[in-house]
Amino acid sequence: MADRVGWGIVGYGWVARDYMAPGIRAAGHRLVAICDPGEASRRAAEAEGARAHADLAGLLAEPEVEAVYVATPNHLHRGAVEVLSAAGKAVLCEKPMAASLADAEAMAAAVRGSGIFYGTAFDQRHHPGHRAMRAAIEAGRLGTVTAVRIVYACWLDRAWTSFQGQDNWRIDPAQAGGGALIDLAPHGLDLVDFLVGDSVTDIAALTQAKAQDYAVDDGALLVGRTGSGVLASLHVAYNCPDILPRRRLEVLGTRGQLTAIDTMGQVAGGSVTFTDGVTGAVEALPFDLQASPFLEQVRAFGSALRRPEERAAYSAERDLHTMRLIARAYGHAGARAA
Ligand SMILES: NC(=O)c1ccc[n+]([C@@H]2O[C@H](COP(=O)([O-])OP(=O)(O)OC[C@H]3O[C@@H](n4cnc5c(N)ncnc54)[C@H](O)[C@@H]3O)[C@@H](O)[C@H]2O)c1
Repeated sequence: MADRVGWGIVGYGWVARDYMAPGIRAAGHRLVAICDPGEASRRAAEAEGARAHADLAGLLAEPEVEAVYVATPNHLHRGAVEVLSAAGKAVLCEKPMAASLADAEAMAAAVRGSGIFYGTAFDQRHHPGHRAMRAAIEAGRLGTVTAVRIVYACWLDRAWTSFQGQDNWRIDPAQAGGGALIDLAPHGLDLVDFLVGDSVTDIAALTQAKAQDYAVDDGALLVGRTGSGVLASLHVAYNCPDILPRRRLEVLGTRGQLTAIDTMGQVAGGSVTFTDGVTGAVEALPFDLQASPFLEQVRAFGSALRRPEERAAYSAERDLHTMRLIARAYGHAGARAA
């Protein structure tokens, strides 16, 4: 039986329209209302049966909204989360948590002060393939886990747009907070935590501005180590043609390796294999190929909203730590460009 949560959305752009709204529907929840200053975004929401407001005050006045998904450009996450915290709403805020570490610190303080239920929308935690990987690791199939290796890349040029006429804020340092590194690496750093149950504590990185003609980094290599000594490597990029192999996640242990291909992202599917460290035999790991990470994310957040004992899986402090890692990877706390 679905928990049928009443959702509001702040920022009804690409990710909200194409992934979150379908996830809300598929979970049997209800999109009550959105707010967005963009006329086209409001019309799109109304076509889905939601009420549309030009500002957050209108959304807050909707009594049926229990949980709010924040999906504005990064620099606007802070203002929305502060207002929603003060109003006592449950919040699921898109990644990166904010465009700057200072904003993320203010958001964590607002969440702490208000005691609201807050989660950052790390949908990839909820990909059924990644859940199957974590279960295999917990069952000891890899032996001692030694390393996580991630490639997560795409093509994002100056002209890239999610919808016709939509601003490409991702290449503006002030709105995005950085480039490929701040956009894509939080997913990988969070997945390391999710898969091996241990956060990255040491980090170093190199960025590049090599193939695109804008002010933010178009690629980065990060190396990290968790508190228990698991090594992590991440290659993230905005300069990799989408047709090339570009989404790969490997977890290596003393008894075997898990390899996920095309699971990182917003959609269902991809593949996960286990390679035995003694025989070399390769076996497919079964998981639900139909359920998208956004559907599963909606189900999990709604379930935790109804059952507070499940909220331990969410932590604004953990997400703030991820933002600290991003700031350190850029070389200083407020880093913006390559
Ligand atoms: N988890 C994922 O896989 C994933 C994927 C894409 C984007 N994202 C994140 O989601 C967020 C949105 O990204 P996008 O690609 O959907 O952007 P987008 O540009 O397509 O949409 C942003 C929307 O926010 C609206 N907006 C601007 N100012 C606003 C305000 N003050 N109040 C309310 N709405 C406002 C815009 O009009 C637009 O409709 C970003 O933080 C991004 O990093 C996450």
